[in-house]
Amino acid sequence: MNKSKVVIVGTGMVGMSYAYSMVNQGTCEELVLIDLDKKRAEGEAIDLNHGLSFAPRKMKIYAGDYSDCSDAYIICITAGAIQNEGETRLDLLHKNTKIMKSIIGEIKKTGFKGILLIATNPVDIMTYVSWKLSGYDKSKVIGSGTTLDSARLRYTLGERLNVNPKDINAYVMGEHGDSQFVAWSYALCGLQPIYQIASRKDKNIDFDDLEKIEDEVRNIAYKIIDCKKSTYYGIGMALTKITKAILENENTVLTVSSYLNGEYGNEDVYIAVPSIVNKDGVREVIHLPLDATEKEKLNDSIKIMKENIKKLDL
Ligand code: LAC
Repeated sequence: MNKSKVVIVGTGMVGMSYAYSMVNQGTCEELVLIDLDKKRAEGEAIDLNHGLSFAPRKMKIYAGDYSDCSDAYIICITAGAIQNEGETRLDLLHKNTKIMKSIIGEIKKTGFKGILLIATNPVDIMTYVSWKLSGYDKSKVIGSGTTLDSARLRYTLGERLNVNPKDINAYVMGEHGDSQFVAWSYALCGLQPIYQIASRKDKNIDFDDLEKIEDEVRNIAYKIIDCKKSTYYGIGMALTKITKAILENENTVLTVSSYLNGEYGNEDVYIAVPSIVNKDGVREVIHLPLDATEKEKLNDSIKIMKENIKKLDL
């Protein structure tokens, strides 16, 4: 297995934003682009290669096919239909499950033994589908989850509090979608609990603001879609962060879609919870003692995931 080889299935805007971000961050040594439209994948590879003299490291980038998967360390699946205006991510359930079935079927034939990283929406359910159909170890099938939503939350809080988003530690949990929620009891600005700042009627933020920020983060993708038809840079960078955590064995905490095996009182479901990510995939799901409201929101989100999984013939 090549410990620095990543395959991207789907060279649409998400797949190519992820590829572009990885080239600019020098995240891996070998990058393979697979798409049904082979000509498009070839053009994307040629275009990216022309930027390599500006990139931080040498990389081998080429358009390939599923035969290039067998020795890859990560296969990231970004292929699938995207939300049209007015559509929710769950509206993509059946068409993207069909696409996922075909892709996983091809990957299984290659003898791939690495980590599957899923970005196709509805991502928590597509991650469950990928795990179920591939038969791979649950820790080696990961979804992008709310990694991007947590980054959106940190950006928004950072703007509001005039603090670098890197110094905001806050998690969006649950579905990467309309039932996501913020675990406010664990949100910190530096070492200060954000609840504490809000309770002080701080000039920049109060409790009403927290609710508005949670709502803004939950719905911001709809605004981006309304403005420019789809989202891709944020998710591309979030996928790069997850990829770096795996390839560099970072043991970093990310709210990826992880399999619950009893944690939070739930099992047999993928959902976004703070998880430790390293070279083996999800090393550990962090079981935060949530308050009553947070527990209820997580259970509601999991219920929606399970109801939708039941609609599928897996
Ligand atoms: C978004 C897509 C990745 O939230 O679902 O931007």
